Amino acid sequence: MEAKPGPALADLYRAGVALLGGRPQALLEAKVLLLRAARLSEERFLAAPERPCSPQAEAFFRRLVGRRLEGVPLAYLTGTKEFWSIPFEVTPSVPVPRPETEVLVEKVLELSRRDKESIVDVGTGSGCIAVALAQELPKADIDAVDISERALAVARRNAARHRARRVRFLRSDLLSAYRGTGARFDFIVSNPPYISHREWEALPADVRGYEPRRALLAGESGLELIGRLVRGAGAFLKPGGYLIFEIGEGQRDRVLSLFGRRWTEIETAWDLAGKPRVITARRA
Ligand SMILES: C[S@@+](CC[C@H](N)C(=O)[O-])C[C@H]1O[C@@H](n2cnc3c(N)ncnc32)[C@H](O)[C@@H]1O
Repeated sequence: MEAKPGPALADLYRAGVALLGGRPQALLEAKVLLLRAARLSEERFLAAPERPCSPQAEAFFRRLVGRRLEGVPLAYLTGTKEFWSIPFEVTPSVPVPRPETEVLVEKVLELSRRDKESIVDVGTGSGCIAVALAQELPKADIDAVDISERALAVARRNAARHRARRVRFLRSDLLSAYRGTGARFDFIVSNPPYISHREWEALPADVRGYEPRRALLAGESGLELIGRLVRGAGAFLKPGGYLIFEIGEGQRDRVLSLFGRRWTEIETAWDLAGKPRVITARRA
């Protein structure tokens, strides 16, 4: 006996929209989850929305919708997130790349001489910053470090997928792996953990419950990692080299007060929401 076909894709999509109805992005989320469950491109879905889907795809779709309703971030359900127009694999071992972090990439490109420069991305997570820079700066020598081996495994897969063969990955607590090696960089870039305990408690459940805690939390004040980075980075920068890193809301003044006389050209870049987002400083 032939297996009964599942419902039409369009009907399943509408059912998903109804189930996700309370969410601000219900239409988009239902479509993204349906495409994932039925392994379809958007073009193929739009070309034949009345085509029946398989019962397996229907069951998978309903499971994904259920998990989304429980609060699992969309990117962990689809296993992918775009950053700098590049699709990155994400797993629960890495935080989901955020669009505001693109400000950091823009800043590096603005300051780069497009030459044989050396760059290290500290706390690389999915590898999104390092891979985006590798694509934009083909002559640069790029290292990417993280304290988490699991994150590094994801980042290595992303680099391989996007042919960023020149990116070297290594495990390191901030820059400690370079102690005693004589390494000096033109750029030290980082989107470090910068959320305080208090802010963590106030975060939406889908961030707090699912994204890796150690990737986001930085002590009582939120500035633990940034403080260590600012204090330690000078020793690993060439004279005139740049330290460029992301900050959280309300941190700018406290972060600026961390820089001593060894630093010049300390500047702030704002994100699209008008928030101070990236600090740049130059080693004198
Ligand atoms: C906010 S995430 C940024 C990930 C990625 N760069 C991005 O922008 O999406 C911070 C990353 O720093 C890593 N990390 C946390 N503490 C660290 C440390 N002491 N040394 C190196 N990496 C660390 C985490 O594992 C996580 O991958």
